Amino acid sequence: MQDKIKTLNDKIAEAHLGGGIKRIAKQHSSKKLTARERINYLMDEGSFEEIGMLVTHRTTDFGMENEMYYGDGVITGYGTINGRLVYVFAQDFTVFGGSLSETHAEKICKIMDMAVKVGAPMIGLNDSGGARIQEGVRSLGGYADIFFRNVQASGVIPQISAIMGPCAGGAVYSPAITDFTIMVEETSYMFVTGPNVVKTVTNESVTSEELGGASTHSTKSGVAHRTAVNGVVCLEDIKRLLSYLPQNNNEKPRSLPYELKDEIREQLAGIIPDNPNKPYDMHAVISGIIDEDSFFEIHKNYAENIIVGFARLGGRSIGIVANQPMFLAGCLDVNSSKKAARFTRFCDAFNIPLLVLVDVPGFLPGTDQEWNGIIVHGAKLLYALSEATVPRVTVITRKAYGGAYDVMNSKHIGADMNFAWPTAEIAVMGAKGASEIIFKKEIHDAEDHEAKLLEKEAEYAELFANPYTAAQRGFVDEIILPQDTRRKLIKAFAMLENKVGVTPDRKHGNIPL
Ligand code: COA
Repeated sequence: MQDKIKTLNDKIAEAHLGGGIKRIAKQHSSKKLTARERINYLMDEGSFEEIGMLVTHRTTDFGMENEMYYGDGVITGYGTINGRLVYVFAQDFTVFGGSLSETHAEKICKIMDMAVKVGAPMIGLNDSGGARIQEGVRSLGGYADIFFRNVQASGVIPQISAIMGPCAGGAVYSPAITDFTIMVEETSYMFVTGPNVVKTVTNESVTSEELGGASTHSTKSGVAHRTAVNGVVCLEDIKRLLSYLPQNNNEKPRSLPYELKDEIREQLAGIIPDNPNKPYDMHAVISGIIDEDSFFEIHKNYAENIIVGFARLGGRSIGIVANQPMFLAGCLDVNSSKKAARFTRFCDAFNIPLLVLVDVPGFLPGTDQEWNGIIVHGAKLLYALSEATVPRVTVITRKAYGGAYDVMNSKHIGADMNFAWPTAEIAVMGAKGASEIIFKKEIHDAEDHEAKLLEKEAEYAELFANPYTAAQRGFVDEIILPQDTRRKLIKAFAMLENKVGVTPDRKHGNIPL
């Protein structure tokens, strides 16, 4: 018996060493934690249970039968984060560079299947040299098995990917399908083809960091939802993100206990500048409304003309979509529409109510936008909000012009409660542009064109650059004082708590992709 116990203990000890002490030291010297250290940090202490620790690969080509490591380059299992069940895989770069073999993929698929059956989030910690080169197509098949499961799990359980080292080639498509991708700065990169192939094919010289580092993907491509300065911060981010989410699509997110006071926030009254063309930071409005320090921003440095993120309002988890007048005057463009649409769909899939803050002068004009398909991309946001059945509340702080008024969670596309501040301007376009068109002849015929334009502009503004016409028609439910916004929103979301969303009987819609 003692022998048998020793055999088991030896195997466990060997498995814990991964690719060996030397490679662990190399991992540390590259400023990276090992897969086990990552899991230990991520999970509640002592909660992690490993599945498939003793799995090895089955390859015999290239002398591979002589090089076996328990676990085969990935640690898989389950445990808890803040007391809630999650499933996790962590690729072990010390074993064949964390490369994905057939058995490595089988281990990941096994826990993905469990996560879906049980209804708990799936977290992937990626650090891998890609397909196990010695296995060829078997490895590619393994990737496809994972991708297929990512798609089946989409909208059923939250899926989060951390990129903590290399993630190249086909490997990138699993994170791309998951709901959130967090990249570690400087030690991670993602690309479909690396710098060498790029040089050969396009003759471009580019470093890995430039091509697919955290900074590139969080600002230029939008592939990364967040970046973290190091592995530990990345794991902390995952824990925080999970706190806003339900375990699966049949649950609502957990509310934190919250004792309501009068909830008046005077600072909200001083944010909107007197000059309607002056920008202000919509973050100030957000922090004025939500529970203190509760904003968790997604895609912070990408398409900054729109802000999206999770927050708490009276303890409730909500998703926020907000125009940002500080960038491109808050116009909707291709990237901001895609960013907001994807976030909206995530919130809707996981029963997270949506708050939409509106200050939008319209869609960004120009050939660049038109040629890149602003029509189709803008339609994504319109579609995503229109189909969302979660409680949806809008606050128009200032401009709500043109088609963008319709898109930004207007009453017409199914918003439940629409508020406007007295500073709101709900119109087809700004007063100047509108006057130049509809009073063109009068302005042209006037002796003093400029004076006439100003007169007409004032006339138009008086009539339309306010929220009252919209309120008269019921397009706005109530015009509220800025300082009262938080109180009104807490009550509105509480009132909408048991909203039952009705969706048409169809296989799926055809969102303009
Ligand atoms: N398949 C099998 N083994 C791999 C591998 C892969 N795809 N990628 C890396 N490895 C192994 C290496 O042979 C090395 O093994 P060793 O520890 O026995 O020496 C170990 O993983 C570490 O790789 P190394 O190249 O020393 O690390 P690095 O940090 O210098 O570079 C990469 C990392 C990922 C940039 C580099 O390994 C690489 O380019 N890998 C191939 C990527 C690829 O083309 N993948 C297939 C297409 S998806």
